[in-house]
Amino acid sequence: MATQSRHKIAVFASGYGSNFEVIARAAQAGDIPAEVALMVCDKPTARVCSLADELSVEKFVFSAKDYASKADYEREIVSQCRERGVELICLAGYMRLVDEELLNAYKGQIINIHPSLLPAFPGVNPLERAMEYGVKVYGATIHYVDETLDGGKIIAQRAIEYEGNDIEELTELIHEAEHKLYINTLQKLLK
Ligand code: GRF
Repeated sequence: MATQSRHKIAVFASGYGSNFEVIARAAQAGDIPAEVALMVCDKPTARVCSLADELSVEKFVFSAKDYASKADYEREIVSQCRERGVELICLAGYMRLVDEELLNAYKGQIINIHPSLLPAFPGVNPLERAMEYGVKVYGATIHYVDETLDGGKIIAQRAIEYEGNDIEELTELIHEAEHKLYINTLQKLLK
């Protein structure tokens, strides 16, 4: 029987890492045909770094201030990814705009998850801004990454209805939706 080929992916994160965790566990369980070959993080103290250790996922952790320019650290990231044969980069709470070096090296192979139904509420604090607006249908979007802020072509979305005004409750619901959306999307993209 032919073994299903496993694509090498990298997950980039800056903070808590719940999306990273769900992706890494799904890969390890064989629920997506992928191996998380690398976790990239720009915050050495972020929880996602210890999570990578716990899950035995290799990591590249950097501080932007140690590099002369963004191009310099992005070149290093590209080489770390290439060394491991990474084919797809999944941004999951990576709080930096991706620039030319990465975009050119991984053209059409970088995706991001954003906690709104894009093109509504790109950028920071989308949940707070949407709630302030009186939104009743929230959601999450996975899109290709280009040079714009949360503006690349949409791949998949998941909507949730919420009429309350508890931002923490909403954040939890959005996270649940994001986790399902990321796994479903990777199943389809990597097929
Ligand atoms: C997610 O809501 C994601 O959409 C946004 O940042 C958050 C990261 O959460 N870009 P986590 O670190 O994966 O828990």
